[in-house]
Amino acid sequence: MDTLNVQGGYPLTGELKIQGSKNTVLPVMAAAVLYKGVTMLTNVPMIQDVYCMIHILEAVGVKIVFSDHCLVMDASSVENGEIPMEDVKRMRSSIMLLGALLGRTGEAVTSYPGGCSIGLRPINLHLKGLTEMGAEISEDGTKIRACASRLKGAYIRLDFPSVGATENILLAAVAAEGVTVIENAAREPEIIELCLFLQKMGVPVRGAGTGRIKIEGKRELRQTSYRITGDRIVAGTYLAAAAVTGGQVRLTGIYTPYMASVIRAFRECGCDVTWGKEEVSLRSDGRVAAVPWVKTAPYPGFPTDMQSPFMALLAYGNGVSMIEETIFEGRLKLAEQLAKMGADIRVEENRAWVTGQKKLRGALVEAGDLRAGAALAVAAVGAEGRTRIADPGYIRRGYESIDWDLQSLGGRIWW
Ligand code: EPZ
Repeated sequence: MDTLNVQGGYPLTGELKIQGSKNTVLPVMAAAVLYKGVTMLTNVPMIQDVYCMIHILEAVGVKIVFSDHCLVMDASSVENGEIPMEDVKRMRSSIMLLGALLGRTGEAVTSYPGGCSIGLRPINLHLKGLTEMGAEISEDGTKIRACASRLKGAYIRLDFPSVGATENILLAAVAAEGVTVIENAAREPEIIELCLFLQKMGVPVRGAGTGRIKIEGKRELRQTSYRITGDRIVAGTYLAAAAVTGGQVRLTGIYTPYMASVIRAFRECGCDVTWGKEEVSLRSDGRVAAVPWVKTAPYPGFPTDMQSPFMALLAYGNGVSMIEETIFEGRLKLAEQLAKMGADIRVEENRAWVTGQKKLRGALVEAGDLRAGAALAVAAVGAEGRTRIADPGYIRRGYESIDWDLQSLGGRIWW
C-alpha cells in the first residue's frame, strides 16, 4: 500500500502541461490491433493502465516499444485472442479489446471484468452489440469466449450510451462486412478521438460525437501515427486543487471544448476561469460558492469522473451543495473519507448534500478508487496540516505524476 502525503495550505500557482488522456489512449491502443503493421502514438501518459494494456497486447503477439510518452506497436503477427485473466482483474477496461481481437483473429477470450468499487459495471451492452454483428458468445462462468468466422455490419441501438460498449462495437465494425450504425452511441470526447484515429487509419466513420455513428468495415487500413489528446479529467482535478488553495494556474495541452461542462461548473463555484483552444486558466480567492445541484450525465453533461474531485471542492463551499450521481452507483463513498477530514456530507442513495466548511483538517484517509484518491489529494492541499492518503495502487493508474505536477505548482505533496 503506497501513501501519498500532503501538507496543506500552500496556494497552487504557475503553469503546467497536462498529460495525455488515459481514457483516449486505451481504446486507441486496442484499435491498433486491427492493423497488421506498425502504429505510433505520441503524448501517451506513462500510467499503470497503459503498462497493463501493453502487457495484454504483448500477450496476444503485439511487439511494443514505449519510451518518453511515445508508443510504437507492431501488430503484424497477432495470433491469439486470449486476454490474460490477471490483467482483466487489474484493469476492467481491458474488455474493450474484445471487439478488436474478435475483428482481428475471429476469436476473443476474456474473463468477466467484474465490478469495482464505483459500481457493478455490467457488460451486457457490449455482448449484445457483438452478438448482433454475428459473434457467438459462450460463457463458462469465469470466461467469456466470443467467436465469429465473419462479422457483419448491423444496426445496433444501445439502451444506454455506454462508452465502452460504443468502443467495442466500433472496433468490431472495422472488421465487419458492410455498414454498422450505432444508435444512442456515446458522445464522449474519447469516442470522438477514437473515431478520428480510425479515420486516419483509413476507416470511413461518420457521426462521431453525435448519438448516431455510421462505420464502413473491411477497408484497407494504413500505418498511422496519432497524438493522444490531453486528459480532461486530470486537468479538472488540478483546477479543483488550485481552487481550494486560492491559487492561480494555467494548464496547457488540453482541448478545452471537451471541458465545457467542467468549466461552467467551476465558474458556478465563483472561480475566475478563462480559456483558449488548448489551455485553461483558473484564479480563485479560496472562497468557493456552493452549487445548488451538480448532476452527472453522459457527455456533454457533467462527467462522472469529475464528480469526486468536485465533491472535494464543494466540501469547502460557502453553503450547501447537492451532488447527484447518475452513472456509477458506488461513486459517493468518497464522502466517508472526506468526513475524516471534517467534511459535512450527507449521502442518500445517489445524492450527496455537502455543507461546506471553512477549513478541513489533515487526516489518515484511504483511496477507494482512482478518482476518489485524486479527490482526497484535492481536499488535502486545501486542508490544515498533513494528510496521508493510503492508496492500494489506484492513483497511479490514471495520474502519471500527481506529486510532481502539484509540487511544480507549489504544493507540498510526495509519495
Ligand atoms: C468509461 O467507463 C471510462 N473508462 C470511465 O472512466 C468513465 O467514468 C465512463 O466511461 C463514463 O464516462 C474508460 O474509458 C477506461 P460506460 P465505461 O460503459 O466504458 C452502464 C475513470 O475513472 N453499463 O459508459 O465502463 C454502467 O453500469 C473511469 O477514468 C451497462 O449497464 O462506462 C454504468 O452505469 C471510471 N451495461 C454506465 O453504463 C454495459 O454493458 C456507464 O458505463 C455497459 C455499461
